[in-house]
Formats: sequence, structure tokens, C-alpha cells
Amino acid sequence: MDWSQRLLFSVLLILASLIDGTRADASVSGTVFCDQCKDGHVTLFDYPIYGVKVTLACLDPNGQIIFSREETSNWFGHYAMRLEGTPDMSNCYAQVSTSGQGPNRCGAGAGPAQKIRLLFRFFDTEVYTVDALLSEPAEPMSFCPRFSNPGPAPITPVNPPVIPSPPPPFSLPPPPRLPTPPPEFPLPPPFRLPPSPRLPPVPSLPPMPPMPFLRPSACSHQNWTNPEYRCYWRYVNPDMKVAVVFGLVAGRRYGTDITLWEGLMGRGDPYRTLLREGTTALLNSYNSLLFPYNAISVVTQMNWALLGSQRAVLHTALRFMRANFGSSNVTCNFTPCK
Ligand SMILES: *[C@@H]1O[C@H](CO)[C@@H](O)[C@H](O)[C@H]1NC(C)=O
Ligand SMILES: *[C@@H]1O[C@H](CO)[C@@H](O)[C@H](O)[C@H]1NC(C)=O
Repeated sequence: MDWSQRLLFSVLLILASLIDGTRADASVSGTVFCDQCKDGHVTLFDYPIYGVKVTLACLDPNGQIIFSREETSNWFGHYAMRLEGTPDMSNCYAQVSTSGQGPNRCGAGAGPAQKIRLLFRFFDTEVYTVDALLSEPAEPMSFCPRFSNPGPAPITPVNPPVIPSPPPPFSLPPPPRLPTPPPEFPLPPPFRLPPSPRLPPVPSLPPMPPMPFLRPSACSHQNWTNPEYRCYWRYVNPDMKVAVVFGLVAGRRYGTDITLWEGLMGRGDPYRTLLREGTTALLNSYNSLLFPYNAISVVTQMNWALLGSQRAVLHTALRFMRANFGSSNVTCNFTPCK
């Protein structure tokens, strides 16, 4: 997925919220990624991360903060802020603000602040975007290419020498110091089907499973609704609302109550088929790095289709279906869960 698609996704979300009737004077949005390998940029190993606080700070010419705002990333790592009135947005930065927050294992460190960029003006509304923000785990994940060897670790000074440097664009109050995470992360219990009401509304993100994730796999919606394979539901759970996962455009089409599980059961018209195959493709994208679509492109294409004609809906549904069907050498890699 390239940047223009990510950008488009953000724009769609913003436009959707504008059309909703709430008038915003400026909006800022972007995506937070877990930089699993701590390499400082977004790579194939990184995924959009949920529940990370992002602070937007706007500065005056003297570098003093005029105002700041905080927002938390959603299930697609996306965050969006609306600012009313006519704030001076000429010198604003966004940064992952609190480290070690929430249930994420990827909250031990934060990447650099990014300056916001004006995307377009829409009547009296300004729409800004931000390059990817990074949140980092305490240690690179074991499957990261350059750090996979537990032997001689790259030598990094514990306390880098203090070099007088130009002041950072803005300084946030230091994040609360966290206890270092235990060396062994217990795996959260697998989701239960049928979903029990005791599931936390927001399950914590389990670590990226290295082996299955790097194997090609394409599973059908039947596979995903088979209780034997419930443990493969990793980043989303069957109870989650379609409107939350796929965004407002999907919410308007399918209603705000329908869950992913119900979406997987849909059949009949092109829209239900699209939802079923799109949800399946999303689950497949989380299950295998080699699936033809990643999570953001599934959501983007779904939104595009829903904004287009019925023909576009059918076309996208068929493309998802083809990917979900796999091929002679890409099949469903599920084995029954314990
Ligand atoms: C997945 O579902 C297909 C039918 O849609 C079935 O043929 C296949 O055996 C299933 N795979 C697994 C691993 O259960
Ligand atoms: C998968 O199958 C196609 C033909 O069906 C073949 O061209 C390709 O080399 C195969 N890929 C792998 C990884 O085996």
C-alpha cells in the first residue's frame, strides 16, 4: 500500500465526517504504526497500532505552544482531530505522546514529531495530514531481520552523550516512567466463540505471530466462522462493529449495529457479498503478510467501492473473493486451535 492510498483513506474519513454535518474549521489526521523492528520507519513488519495517544501542538514564532490537542488512534492506527474556529495552524507538530500506554506492547518509545501538512482547503475548512508516527516496543521483535540473532546485540550506549542540539520543535511533559515489561509476555487468552459478554470491549493487541504471519495463507469466510479456528482472530474480534472497523462510509451503508461476525454471514446482494469478502480479506491480511492485500488497502478499497456504483461494489467483492479463495499453492494454513 502506498502513501497515496493511505492519504486517500484519511481523506475519505474526513470527508465522511464533514458530510455528517459537523462543521470543522480544521482537521488533522494521520496514522500511528508500531515500529516493531525499531528501525525508525514504516516497513512491511510494521502495523497500524490501536490506542496510542497522539499530541498535536501548534507553536507561535517564538516556539511557544499556542494550543495543543490529544487524540487516541483507532483500530486502524488512525487518529483525527477537529479544531474549531480559525486557529493558526502554520507551525504545528504531531507526536506520539504517552509511552507505554494502554495494553500495547508497542508503547515503550515514540518516534520523532512530524510537522503537519496542508492537504487541501474545502470552503472554510482546512484539511491537514501528518506523515506516519511511530510507536516502538522496548526491544525489536525477535523476528526482525537485523536483530534476529540474540547473540552480540548492536552496541548502543545506554545514555547517549548529551550533545547540545537545537531545541526540539516542542517538548511535551515527560511520559510517566514505566516499569520495564517482563521478559516473557503471556499470550492473551484466545477469543471465544460465540462471543461472551465478558470479553473486554477493547482486547489488547497480541504480538505479531512470526511464523504463521510469514507463511502465505488465504482462508474463506467459512474457515473464519469455524469455531475450531477461533484463535486466528487476532487483531479484531467477532463482536466488533463493522462501522468501527471499516469506518463511517461502511457504517452508513450497513448500519452501526452489524458486527464483523454478522458481516461474514452475509449473502445475497452485492453489498452483503462485499462486506463478507471484505471482512474475510481483512482477517486474511492480519493472518498472513503474503496475503495480496494489507489491512489498510482492504478498508480503502471497500470504502472506494461503497462510494461508487453497484458495479464497483460487485467488482471489488469479486477481487476480494479471488484473493480469499487462494490458489493451488496458497491455501488456508489453519490448524484447529487447542
Ligand atoms: C477452508 O474452507 C474451505 C471451503 O471454503 C475448505 O475447502 C477448506 O478445507 C477449509 N480449510 C481449512 C484449513 O479448514
Ligand atoms: C504457485 O503456482 C503457480 C502456478 O499455479 C506457479 O507459477 C508458482 O511458481 C507457484 N509458487 C510457488 C511459491 O510455488
